[in-house]
Amino acid sequence: MVTDEKTSGVSRRNFLQAVGVGSSAGVMFATMGAVGLAPTAAAQPRNESWTPPRGSDFSLTGRSAKKVVVVGAGPAGLASAYELQKAGYRVTVLEARHRPGGRTLTIRGGDSETDINGVTQKARFSDGVYMNAGAGRIAQWMVTMDYLRELGVPYEVFTNANADAYLYNERSGATPGNPVRYRTAKADVFGYTSELLSYATDQGALDQKLTAADKENLRAFLRSWGSLQSDGSYRGGDNRGYSVYPSAWNEHGTPLPGPGTVSEVLASKVGQYFPFEINWEQSMLMFQPKGGMDTTYDYFVRAIGKQNVLFSSPVTGVRNTTSGVTVTYTAHNGKARQIDADFAIVAAPAGLMRRWDTNWGADVDAALGEFAVGSPAGKIGLEYRSRFWEDDHRIFGGITETDMDLAHVWYPSYGYGERRGLVVGYYNTGANARSYADMTPRQREMRAVEQGVKIHGEKYRTELESSFSIAWHKVPYIEGAWAYPNTQSSRFKQLQQGAGNVYFAGDWMSEISAWQHGAFWAARYAVQALHTRVMAS
Ligand code: FAD
Ligand code: ALA
Repeated sequence: MVTDEKTSGVSRRNFLQAVGVGSSAGVMFATMGAVGLAPTAAAQPRNESWTPPRGSDFSLTGRSAKKVVVVGAGPAGLASAYELQKAGYRVTVLEARHRPGGRTLTIRGGDSETDINGVTQKARFSDGVYMNAGAGRIAQWMVTMDYLRELGVPYEVFTNANADAYLYNERSGATPGNPVRYRTAKADVFGYTSELLSYATDQGALDQKLTAADKENLRAFLRSWGSLQSDGSYRGGDNRGYSVYPSAWNEHGTPLPGPGTVSEVLASKVGQYFPFEINWEQSMLMFQPKGGMDTTYDYFVRAIGKQNVLFSSPVTGVRNTTSGVTVTYTAHNGKARQIDADFAIVAAPAGLMRRWDTNWGADVDAALGEFAVGSPAGKIGLEYRSRFWEDDHRIFGGITETDMDLAHVWYPSYGYGERRGLVVGYYNTGANARSYADMTPRQREMRAVEQGVKIHGEKYRTELESSFSIAWHKVPYIEGAWAYPNTQSSRFKQLQQGAGNVYFAGDWMSEISAWQHGAFWAARYAVQALHTRVMAS
């Protein structure tokens, strides 16, 4: 959740960094220090409340580590099992699907998925080509990075923002349907807003807010930020980019035509895409595990021990008993099985647990209902024979934003220099995701390509090799992309307490749903609650 306080903190920091461009680093750091923003070691945003359970906790206490069944081999389930096992707990993970990772699913050639309506797709991607169908990016500060490093998962930069990617608003502006590069859009939006602010400053409109010195500093910043002329006007500049870039033989570069008028730039609405890049969750640098997001969870399974993680074993019931829990499931061979244990951590989507045979009571079921992961999101992976977005458009990674039903188009942040590559042709949510979900896979491909051609030209159609699409609310044992939990609600607090010998985990049990970071912290919370109880018993 972003509180007002956090928001204002971020904008204060951005403002200081921005004005710091034109002043000395020392002055800027002194200023930041004065308002408590200097990046000292002590200010590293780490959560110190987590004390992992350790085997040594049991020494000399007469207690022993217990047996725990973990339901779900997604990030929350596997992190729970991993942390418990490190401390000596005996752990069995039951996973309904045939692979680990849950919503961090990576699709590679040969993978097959059947949705809840029985529609099967088999991916025909080439070797080395993959699509992160769910999670795709990790911010530097996220605990996800710590697990990658602890487990030795190789990772690389994920390009979330690229000055050469496009903004494509089909519906707005004086010339709708013109792809514009981020750099050009930024130059014009920053240029005109700077011009207006500079004008307002000169006219005395900000006199109540700013001292004479403030105004001088602001003007200096605006001149640089907005590439303003000495008279304070914006007339474009080389920040916008070129149609022919400078080279040699007296080729000084051919500037792009424009800019349009201030009204045209405002009407194009491209500026509305910019806050994304300074969003606390989404700003660069970001990272991805090499070879696909779900690689991480192969490492987790290896660390936990393959024999302790049972796939294709959907849980059908979780019941508290006088001494612990009984978890029932359907084994790989179709037979009903049960495991008795001291505790369970259930890390499946909340809404789905309500279908199980449980005795935790109607109240807990009602609470779980409020955290159901039901919202839709969809992606399509389009494998191309050539990397024309790099060769022709000179876009190496990053995201093109659109106001079409595609929403976001992702270029790959891997495989540079390879012949082939995979573009995520749409990543959408809400009504757009539902409308693609209602199509057949072939129809989704045709629609996505028809839309993408408008931005990238005919090669977007002619170079296509194959596709694979996902509609998250139709994926068995997931049935939704993410939930938006109200972490202040009494229901949330109730579920944090667990139900008898059962604890709940999942990104929906965290302050940061829709991120592995949230799932990991929810897992740590459940593990800590369980371990504290064992040590107190
Ligand atoms: P899940 O990953 O959903 O795992 C739950 C597991 O429980 C699944 O494996 C499921 O099969 C299993 N299960 C369900 N029912 C049963 C049963 N009856 N018996 C046994 N097992 C069962 N996160 C990021 O960090 N970065 C991103 O860029 C990002 N982008 C995303 C984009 C999309 C489209 C989506 C859908 C998610 C994205 N996320 C991202 C979020 C991230 O994937 C989730 O936060 C994370 O996977 C949640 O982990 P979890 O363990 O709570 O749940
Ligand atoms: N965390 C998800 C993403 O970054 C929503 O796309």
